[in-house]
Amino acid sequence: MNKSVPVIAVDGPSGVGKGTLCQALANHFKWHLLDSGAIYRVLALSALKQDIALDDAYKLEQLALTLPLTFDTQGYDVKVLLNQVDVTKEIRTEQTGGAASKVAAINSVRVALLQRQRDFKQAPGLVADGRDMGSVVFSDAPVKIFLDASAHSRAERRMKQLQDKQNNVKFAEILQEITARDERDRHRAVAPLKPAIDALIIDTTSLFIQDVFNQSIKYINEKLAL
Ligand code: DC
Repeated sequence: MNKSVPVIAVDGPSGVGKGTLCQALANHFKWHLLDSGAIYRVLALSALKQDIALDDAYKLEQLALTLPLTFDTQGYDVKVLLNQVDVTKEIRTEQTGGAASKVAAINSVRVALLQRQRDFKQAPGLVADGRDMGSVVFSDAPVKIFLDASAHSRAERRMKQLQDKQNNVKFAEILQEITARDERDRHRAVAPLKPAIDALIIDTTSLFIQDVFNQSIKYINEKLAL
């Protein structure tokens, strides 16, 4: 791992707009992108497929250490492959998100996935998207941004995303799922979702993505003296 490679760590709860911001920042700087949530999602999906209980710390740790996961960045959109099979769409369901949040609460699983995430730190730079990028995985990152927003507005955004793909989406169910996931992610014993002390906090509740992007770019330019 090259210490001089800059990292922009972006954390926050689900549905807050991290993915969109990180993709835009990675495109802007032409840096690498780490979607750490996708790693937890693939682990959870793999466990579900193999009937491994989502609280079986030992088996999940073994799975995390050997997870045959690759990101295919050849095309326009990044593809997520498990055992060479494209699971990009499958990992985006609410069910897998909920399962990911459960396996992510296990300390040995988080430790097993640390190096895999740190390996993404490659020149010329990395934009890292997650829950503990600034607080744990890249705690020495020169730029840390924490996005937050009300659960209601995050559920509304999530609802719009899902409606594009499927019918019959119920707002109350999405809000409940988001609230339950938040509860677990914010209150778990290890690496709970919380801003690093030196993070810039942006409340995106009433902001457009362009405003969030502009605010972030201004901050990053100041911090990295670009
Ligand atoms: O960002 P996401 O919704 O794809 O993440 C799915 C789950 O994975 C999330 O509910 C908590 C967990 N996660 C985590 O614990 N740490 C990370 N750095 C990223 C995700």
